[in-house]
Amino acid sequence: MISDEFARNHSRLSAVNEPLVLGIESSCDETGVALVRGQELLVDAVASSVDEHARFGGIIPEIASRAHLEAMIPTLERALSTADVDLGEVDAIAVTAGPGLIGPLTVGVSAAKALSLATGKPIYGVNHVIGHAAVDQLVHGDFPDEFLALVVSGGHSSMLLVDDIATGVRELGSTLDDAAGEAFDKVGRLLGLPYPGGPHIDRLAREGDPEAIRFPRGLTAAKDQAAHAYDFSFSGLKTAVARWVETQRAAGKELPIEDIAASFAAAVADVLTAKTIAACDRNGVDTVVIGGGFSANSQLREMAQQRCTEAGITLRIPPIKYCTDNGAMIAALGSSMVTAGVAPSALDFGVDSSMPLSITHV
Ligand code: KG4
Ligand code: ZN
Repeated sequence: MISDEFARNHSRLSAVNEPLVLGIESSCDETGVALVRGQELLVDAVASSVDEHARFGGIIPEIASRAHLEAMIPTLERALSTADVDLGEVDAIAVTAGPGLIGPLTVGVSAAKALSLATGKPIYGVNHVIGHAAVDQLVHGDFPDEFLALVVSGGHSSMLLVDDIATGVRELGSTLDDAAGEAFDKVGRLLGLPYPGGPHIDRLAREGDPEAIRFPRGLTAAKDQAAHAYDFSFSGLKTAVARWVETQRAAGKELPIEDIAASFAAAVADVLTAKTIAACDRNGVDTVVIGGGFSANSQLREMAQQRCTEAGITLRIPPIKYCTDNGAMIAALGSSMVTAGVAPSALDFGVDSSMPLSITHV
């Protein structure tokens, strides 16, 4: 009976140009519920448990899961009432199926499945990382025929070649070890900064000299180009910062914290932007979309803008509130799928903590 209803809804959906899509995100520490119509954002409600993790210096999955459980229904109700939308009006439900933390993902997927069952609306279990690129449509309009997406956050650093955000995403490369934000947070801890260290390093770096210390640029040597032209590695850089700090401390010297922050941030921004511009060149692409929480980083933003302008590349970065985890990115991706006529997910899909980028939806 359920599958008949799904089939009916799906055939009806093929005719919907501007679908009303409910998006649910719960892969890490943000509970996000949003509504989009076509690619117009109606509401983006977010509840965050970040403060509950601060004293542990990292996300505690059990605490995040419980926070999602507590926040899910109030956040859903807030989204629906703010947009003055009744659940029955929604054309489809999209939810993050991975990658992310198993417990938190399970809360969002269970909520979305319950809503799908109760309303008979089709459900799309989608890839969170691709959502970070998809959200840019809500801000800057339709995507060009082909573009490069750089998704950088505390959990991911990936380069994607996209010809259709709903169906045609190819992963060119990703980090082999730490994500960009993760490296910032680890260096932040090393320098005694509060968690998450990323924004603190950004602030300090603005006061320092980016050329004071020459830190290594991972996977940029000529010998790495054959196998890892599009991949990143930040753990060697993090170790280099740790060694440099140790040596200074052992010599009883004061730490030039602003210069360390500026030189470290410059190394990360240099690698990310140089590889992105080279990838555009090699793939004949002239638009770059940057997404993910780390795209708040001012050193990355400045260097990306400068290098893209020099190379004649159009750079699209959504405002920061859409770069961090939220429901809007998931609703935007779900809406693209409905519009492209992609078949909904079967209701028995599971969560996938390490969902590969070859899977746009389950
Ligand atoms: O996307 P996001 O909110 O969560 C994940 O999916 O990981 O990204 C958070 C990450 C954290 O590592 C945080 O330190 C980093 O992005 N971050 C920054 C800045 N703002 C956030 N890193 C450097 N500079 C910033 N301004
Ligand atoms: Zn994310």
